[in-house]
Amino acid sequence: MKVGVFDSGVGGLSVLKSLLEARLFESIVYYGDTARVPYGTKDKQTIIRFSLQALEFFTSHRVDMLVVACNTASAYALDSLSHEAPFPVIGVITPGVLATQNKLSSKDASILVIATKATIASNLYAAKLQENGFYNVKSLATGLFVPFVEEGIYDGKPMQALLEYYFKGFESPNALILGCTHFPLIAPALSAYFGKDTILIHSGEAIVEYIQNTYHLSTHHILHSLEFFASDDVDALKHTAKLWLGNLYMP
Ligand code: DGL
Repeated sequence: MKVGVFDSGVGGLSVLKSLLEARLFESIVYYGDTARVPYGTKDKQTIIRFSLQALEFFTSHRVDMLVVACNTASAYALDSLSHEAPFPVIGVITPGVLATQNKLSSKDASILVIATKATIASNLYAAKLQENGFYNVKSLATGLFVPFVEEGIYDGKPMQALLEYYFKGFESPNALILGCTHFPLIAPALSAYFGKDTILIHSGEAIVEYIQNTYHLSTHHILHSLEFFASDDVDALKHTAKLWLGNLYMP
């Protein structure tokens, strides 16, 4: 099976990593819209337009399924993509909500959603969690973590200052939803800040679980091809892929 992985830029490599680890697909095509990243500061119509343009790319590459790794595109463009695509399109938000639900034993649990400005403005995570009975949900736009991760700043004084800037006054939640592709890279810093009792919800792990449960795919496929495409500087994307994917990277 050939899957397309779409992101606004390099961040979706964190979701790609989970897909590679799970060995769900024989062939993967990754496309990052690096010329127009970030999506998280753009408005709904722009995010939908850019996402539909990316769909043309995946249609011409004849994928069997499309994973929208980008939380922001998942929040705004999933309906339009699903409507237009001749193959199933899966976003990260429903899987993230289901994973949260599976990991929390009580509806009283406190949940903090962190994501880009646009994802938070969509209110989608909070609304879906509330539909499922979770009433203690807070949402916070923490978009500055995105350039930090892209600069390779995962810890140290600048990261500590940013954690305090965003979270000072917040009590440690029972679950923290990493509602942005870049945030798994700073999971250790977030865990150190909130403490080990806070459960972190990772979009990549959540979507793997969701695909397995929904499509009953086995997890032993041998990867035959992994291709990277970008709307700007594909070499820079491949460089980040080598760093983030380690020995899972295949040129
Ligand atoms: N990929 C985006 C997300 O997960 C983060 C970067 C951006 O703003 O485009 O929301």
